[in-house]
Amino acid sequence: MDGLLDDAAVAQRILDHIDHRTTDLGDACWREPVANYRSSDRLDLELMRAFRRAPTPYCPSAALTDPGSYVAREAAGVPLLAVRGADGVARVFRNACRHRGAQLACGTGRTKAFVCPYHAWTYGTDGSLRSIPHAYGFPDIDPDMHGLVAVQAEEKAGLVFVTQEPTGASCDLGPIAELLGADLRLVSTAENESAANWKIVAEAFLEGYHIYATHRTSFYPVQFDNLNVVEHFGRNSRVTFPYRNVEKLRGIAPTERHLEGTVTQVYHLFPNVMIATFPKRTLMVVLEPSGVATTRTITYTLAAASTLDHDLTAVEQDESFVNKGAREDRAIVESIQRGLNSGANDVFSFGLFEAAIVHFHRNLHALVGEAV
Ligand SMILES: [Fe+2]
Repeated sequence: MDGLLDDAAVAQRILDHIDHRTTDLGDACWREPVANYRSSDRLDLELMRAFRRAPTPYCPSAALTDPGSYVAREAAGVPLLAVRGADGVARVFRNACRHRGAQLACGTGRTKAFVCPYHAWTYGTDGSLRSIPHAYGFPDIDPDMHGLVAVQAEEKAGLVFVTQEPTGASCDLGPIAELLGADLRLVSTAENESAANWKIVAEAFLEGYHIYATHRTSFYPVQFDNLNVVEHFGRNSRVTFPYRNVEKLRGIAPTERHLEGTVTQVYHLFPNVMIATFPKRTLMVVLEPSGVATTRTITYTLAAASTLDHDLTAVEQDESFVNKGAREDRAIVESIQRGLNSGANDVFSFGLFEAAIVHFHRNLHALVGEAV
C-alpha cells in the first residue's frame, strides 16, 4: 500500500475489526539483530545515511510564527538553528559562529539578531554577518563570505524539513500535504531523556499490541487492545488507534463518517519523528539519538487556536492522559535497553501485529545495511 485511506474507509475497517475481533496484519514477521541496538558503528551509519541525507522534520511551522522566531537544537548530532526571516521564509543554519564556532542560540525564542556570546559577532535573521566588534582586527575577513552556513530547508504540511547532506532526494509528502493545519498553535515544548536506543523508543509508538499490558489504566480504558489500522506511504507509516467511542460512527452513513475525536493517529515520519493526534491536541515528537543507549525526546505540543481560547481545561486533561501513557512507555523502553545487556536475545522478533515496525526496519536496513 502506498497512500492513505480516507476517514470513511478507516472507520469501516475499524468497525469490521471490532465485529470480527481482528486487527490489521502485516505481510511478514521480522527478526532484528540485537547487535543493531548496541553498536555505535551502526548508529553512526544510521545518522549518516538515514538522518542526514533525506529531508527530515525539524520543527512545526507553528514554532516559527513571527519574523525572528527561532528553534535551536541538535538534529542527528548537529547543532542547527531554524529562524523565520523578515521576508516570512523559514531558513535553517548550522548553529555555529563563523569566528570560533560557539552556538548563537539555544532553545526557542524570538530575536532581531543573533549575537555570539563569545565575541559578539552579530548575524541577521537571514544569516548575514551584520557586524564584527573592532573589525579592523580582521582585515582578511569578507563579511559577505562569513554569513551563517545554510542547510537545505523546506516548509511543507506545517513542518520545517531539513536535509543536512542533500543527495537530490525530494521531500514528497503526497498524502499528508495538510498534516499540521495552519490553525494549530504551539502550546509548549518539552525535552526528556530516555535511557534507551532511539529505535526502541520509536517502536513503542508503532503498535497497539501493548495497550492492555502496558497502558491498563491510561489508554486501555478508552482504547482497544491490539486493534489498529496500519498503512504505509513511502518510508513512513500511519497507525490508527481507535477509541471505544468509535462505536458511535455505526449510526452515521458510511460515507459520512469522520474520525475526529474517535481515534489517535500516529504518523511515523521516517526515520525519527512521530506526529500523534489526540482529541484536543497534536504532538510532534522528535527522537534525537544522544548516544547509542540514550535518546533525547523533544515534544512540541500543538492545539487549535479555537481550542486554546475556549477549552483550556480539556487541553489540560488531555495532557495528563498523554503524559501518563508516555511515562509508562518510557519505563518499558528503558527496561528493554537493560534487557539488551542480559544476553538472552540475539534477535528481537516482531510479529504480524507490528507491521509499522517491520516497515521501519526494512527501510532502515535498505539504507544502512545489515547488522554490523
Ligand atoms: Fe505504549
